[in-house]
Amino acid sequence: MSKHILVLPGDGIGPEVARIAVDCLKAAASAEGVSLTFDEAPFGGAGLDACGKPLPEETLDKARSADAVFLGAVGGPKWDDAPERPEKGLLALRSELGLFANLRPVKVFAGLEGLSPLKADRVAGADLLIVRELTGGLYFGEKREGRETASDLCTYSADEVARIARVAFRAASGRRGKLTSVDKANVLATSRLWRSTVNQLAPEYQDVTLDHMYVDATAMKLVTHPSAFDVILTENLFGDILSDEAAVIAGSLGLLGSASLGEGGPGLFEPIHGSAPDIAGQDKANPSGAIASAAMLLRFGLGEARAADRIEAALQAQLKSGRTTADIGGSLGCRAFGAEVCERLAS
Ligand code: NAI
Ligand code: MG
Repeated sequence: MSKHILVLPGDGIGPEVARIAVDCLKAAASAEGVSLTFDEAPFGGAGLDACGKPLPEETLDKARSADAVFLGAVGGPKWDDAPERPEKGLLALRSELGLFANLRPVKVFAGLEGLSPLKADRVAGADLLIVRELTGGLYFGEKREGRETASDLCTYSADEVARIARVAFRAASGRRGKLTSVDKANVLATSRLWRSTVNQLAPEYQDVTLDHMYVDATAMKLVTHPSAFDVILTENLFGDILSDEAAVIAGSLGLLGSASLGEGGPGLFEPIHGSAPDIAGQDKANPSGAIASAAMLLRFGLGEARAADRIEAALQAQLKSGRTTADIGGSLGCRAFGAEVCERLAS
């Protein structure tokens, strides 16, 4: 049976990198005998232009009935004075699809260690995945705002912890089998519930080695020994901070992809960069983050691990060849880079 992918090209460089991701999906699927169908819908600024809303109803309906959703990027100065910001569409889409798990892999590619602001020998071999809880915790708790005092309530239920922990255990099982659960259990009650819930699940995943680390220690170790991590599991606030910290390790925004997963419904797959209005329309965008997101779509969205492996290997080989886009020291345009990755996918 064929699987259906909704593509939301979005704004700025979004459509440029989304086109490459779709080409890669088609090439990998055909090489592995996977059948995919595609549709497109307006979203973000493009949604505002077409329908007056960043998330038009028809786009949401199409997203709900797809097997996976791929997003380029949204936003840009053109919509600064629009009635709603394009980015609001993204928050609405995440919440409508019930996406509670955010996956951000960080990989330092062989030959590209020099891009990192950290010393090359420190970051060499770093290949980690951050699994962040996305719909609970401090950001969604009761807020009280007074003139003299203010508070934000942090709540987690054991069920909320268990469902994100299962995503992380499964991801670790498909990788190097090492899971680090990050909390602040020495001071926070929610962290103690987090830790005991994760511990209770551990026996179900015999091939995964679990350890726990405090968030402050994790923040240090990410920059001193990033290659020591495989999968990091953490709650919303800690994950927001750690995933941005970890993204810097690779050295370029253009290299990294992400996935947001829900229960049952389609996941959302997108590069971590924005719409880059400064280089939009100039064929300068690095499509690597979009290509990496396409691999995640196959792995986590459709369960097609072999096609995902194929894309990751092709991207890695292309980056290693030095034939890259200008942001990481090469001289290829977005389209030429994408075409060379697709050639590798077919062979
Ligand atoms: P940005 O990620 O778009 O750009 C930051 C810098 O990195 C720019 O100099 C850009 O040229 C460069 N860059 C980003 N991606 C690149 C790529 N693939 N290849 C080469 N260079 C790349 O972040 P910025 O400038 O803060 O935001 C621009 C717009 O994007 C804003 O409207 C913002 O709200 C939106 N945005 C959207 C996101 C999304 O769709 N998920 C995420 C972040 C920002
Ligand atoms: Mg953030």
